[in-house]
Parts: sequence; structure tokens; C-alpha cells
Amino acid sequence: MEYRVLGKSDLSVSIIGYGAWGIGGAPFWTTEGEENSANSILKALSVGINFFDTAPVYGFGYSEELLGKTLRKKREDVIIATKCGLRWEREDLSSLRKEATQKSILFEIDASLKRLQTDYVDLYQVHWPDESTPISETMEALLKIQKAGKARYIGVSNYTVEMMKESLTYGQIVSLQPMYSMLERDIEQTILPYCREVDIGIICYSPLASGVLTGKYDENTKFKDWRGKDIIGHFTDDVYLSHVRKVKEIAKIAKKLGKTTAQLAINWLIHQSGVTTALVGVKNPGQVEQNSGAVGWKIPDEDLNTIINILEERRL
Ligand SMILES: NC(=O)c1ccc[n+]([C@@H]2O[C@H](COP(=O)([O-])OP(=O)(O)OC[C@H]3O[C@@H](n4cnc5c(N)ncnc54)[C@H](OP(=O)(O)O)[C@@H]3O)[C@@H](O)[C@H]2O)c1
Repeated sequence: MEYRVLGKSDLSVSIIGYGAWGIGGAPFWTTEGEENSANSILKALSVGINFFDTAPVYGFGYSEELLGKTLRKKREDVIIATKCGLRWEREDLSSLRKEATQKSILFEIDASLKRLQTDYVDLYQVHWPDESTPISETMEALLKIQKAGKARYIGVSNYTVEMMKESLTYGQIVSLQPMYSMLERDIEQTILPYCREVDIGIICYSPLASGVLTGKYDENTKFKDWRGKDIIGHFTDDVYLSHVRKVKEIAKIAKKLGKTTAQLAINWLIHQSGVTTALVGVKNPGQVEQNSGAVGWKIPDEDLNTIINILEERRL
């Protein structure tokens, strides 16, 4: 495994991180059972992954609980990131709401620490911008939490450049968590250059486009989880079919290089300038093992050019 410092922090994170959304299960995902989920966490540790990302909303607390239970005896060896700012009334998607008020965040951190069985998290991130709460109020809450020693560093997720600029006027944020993969490259326009300029670490989410970049799905796939409902992109009919066409071409390059399509997609991502780490979601130890093979090699220049041509539809 390789490690990189996250923005202006002293956190040295593995360039593949463990994304704990999937193991949270319902209402978003189905899992392969608690044993497979816990074993995937332990497998991650054994391949050198030290960075674990979760959120209260993943399985309505279950992802944090399982991570806490599994990593309890390894607490000093791992970097744990969780989030705030999404609340729910009932355990169903329709009752989810954004709330990054001071009152809510101060409540949320204690609930997360309890579920994670720890006194502190290494990184505390605002999950989604809450347009109805001033950024000054959100930052005030996060800084209080940091001062109290409950979070070592503050980060944000799904923020625009303007939102990050404003946040930085109140205190240090060390990271942004955006969606970024071969199939979702919007952040390359302004967000990535800005984060490079001010040294905000980039923690990419959905690096496999929530599974599409593994190459195992095709035009006939019927997803039984959130992907069948397209909650956060990639899975509307037209977008999905275009992704599948591109992934079929990308898979040929992976095969030529003796890699899996997922390994190629992760490798491409972690070598983009400004990227600190890619949070890969997994269902079992085998997927962790395979994905760890994305580290330690580089895509030849000629293949990089072909990949860009495929992604920009010059070769389809
Ligand atoms: N901040 C945010 O708003 C936000 C939003 C989304 C995600 N995230 C973070 O990013 C993490 C990853 O995102 P993600 O779960 O959307 O997507 P992802 O990492 O792009 O894809 C994960 C899915 O791909 C499949 N997969 C992974 N490795 C595989 C392998 N080697 N072979 C075959 N299938 C494999 C698994 O699902 P199947 O086997 O079912 O296909 C897995 O659940 C999350 O866990 C979370 O920590 C953050």
C-alpha cells in the first residue's frame, strides 16, 4: 500500500480508503451479511488500508456501529472519518433531510462517537451542503468539536469552490470528499484545481461509479438496491447505457495490461494530480483483495491516451 498526507493535516492515509456505505445495508444497499462485511474491514487492514470512511446515515447508524465494533482494538492504527449534516425522522429515505445547524451537529458527534466506540474521530466532514444554514454556523460547530478534542480535523463533502472559500475564512478544512471516477469527471473543471492550489486533500467517492466500473454489469442488469432507483447519478437509462459502452472498451485495456477493470479504474483515479485517496466500497474480503491490486504500477502513456479518448467518446 502507499500513503499520502491529507491536505494540511498530519494524517497519512492509504491511497485506497475503505468506503463503509455499502456495509451499512438497507435502505440503500444489500449486503453479503455481517460476517462478510466485518471480514472485509479486517482484510482491508491486512492489505495496508488505514483509512475508513463512514457516516451516520449509512444503514442509519449500523455502518458506524459495525466499523466501531470491528476496529475497536485497532483504534490507534487507523484513521476514522465520519460525517454530519444528514438527519432522519424514520428509517426510510423519504424522511432524510439536510441539517448542518450547530445544535444538530453538536448532537450528532456524540451519537457517532458512541456508535464508533471511540473518544474522537480523525476527520469530521459535513456530508452535504445545507443551504438553509449559514456556513459560519456550521463551521462554528465543527471548530467547537475540534477544540473539544472530539475531531482531529474538519472536512467537507459535495461542496462547491465558493462554499470551501467561505469555510476557509472561519477555520481550516483539510479535505473535500467529491464524487470522482473515470465516469464522473466534473470536478476537473474548477474544484480539483482549486483544491490543489490551497492544499485541500481530495477523498474521491464512488471511484467505481458504484460498481459500474468493475465491468460486471451490462445493459440487461436490473439492480435490486438504490442503483435501481438512481439516487445519486450514473443509473438513469441514458447515462447508464453510455457508461456500459465505455466500460466495455476500458475493460479491453485492463485485459491487455493483465488487470481487472476495477483495478484499472482505481489506478487511473489515484494517479490524477491532486487526488489523495479513493474510497472504494466493498461487500466482501475478495473485493478488497482484488482492489488492493490497483496500487504499485502505472498505466502506460499510450493507454492513458486511449482511455481519455474512450471517456470523451472519441473512440466509440
Ligand atoms: N460523501 C458522499 O456524499 C458519498 C456518496 C457516496 C459514496 N461515498 C463514499 O464512497 C464510498 C464508495 O462509494 P460507492 O460505494 O458508491 O461506490 P464504489 O466504490 O464506486 O463501488 C462500490 C461497489 O462496487 C462493487 N465492487 C467493489 N469492488 C469490487 C470488485 N473488486 N469486484 C466486483 N465488484 C466490486 C460492490 O458492489 P456490488 O458487488 O453490489 O456491485 C461495491 O459495493 C462509500 O462507501 C462512501 O464511503 C460518499
